[in-house]
Order: sequence, then C-alpha cells, then structure tokens
Amino acid sequence: MARVRFVQRDGTEKNVEIGSSISVMMAAVRNGVRGIDGECGGCLDCATCHVYVDEAQAGLVPPPTEDEIELLSNVTAPRRSNSRLSCQIKIPSSIDELIVFVPENQS
Ligand code: FES
Repeated sequence: MARVRFVQRDGTEKNVEIGSSISVMMAAVRNGVRGIDGECGGCLDCATCHVYVDEAQAGLVPPPTEDEIELLSNVTAPRRSNSRLSCQIKIPSSIDELIVFVPENQS
C-alpha cells in the first residue's frame, strides 16, 4: 500500500495510506485532510480538489486528461505547472509515497 503525504501551507503534514483503486482526493476526504473539499465526489465538476504535486514527482503520475486540464482553469488558488485535480490521481504501483501540497484555498 502506498502513502500520500499532504503538506499544508503552514508546513504541517498528514500521511495517509492509500490503496491503488482510490483517488488522492478520496483518501484526503476520508481522512479529514484540511483544504481538499472534493465537492463533486470526483466527477470533474467542481475543481475543489486542487493540489500541487511535488515537482520532483510530477512526471511519475499519469498526465492530466484534456477534461482535467480544462477544469484546472477554474481553480481559485494560483494555477501552476504542477497543479492537478486530486480526484484524477491514483498512485501508480511504482511509487511508495506521493507528496502533494494543499493550496491556500479551494473556493
Ligand atoms: S472532486 Fe470535483 S473535480 Fe475533483
């Protein structure tokens, strides 16, 4: 089982175990990670699951689809090259730990 390390803007962290079949957003919501709302439940309709994937790991997760790229234009925190919608990220078996940074706001 892999792990996601959620890093808040104040530097606090929460480590969450994650199975290969659930998204990073779902892992966050189920474990009470602050700042990841996931209002639409993962159907690419809200952009409230925005995260910044650790830049060193950005190439290790599958790239965003066109639909995700389009919805990323609706995030409220600054959009960066490593911005992703966490409902669209599942951890590949090649990664033991993924580090994501929670943005300053979601809505
Ligand atoms: S949870 Fe709504 S777009 Fe990710």
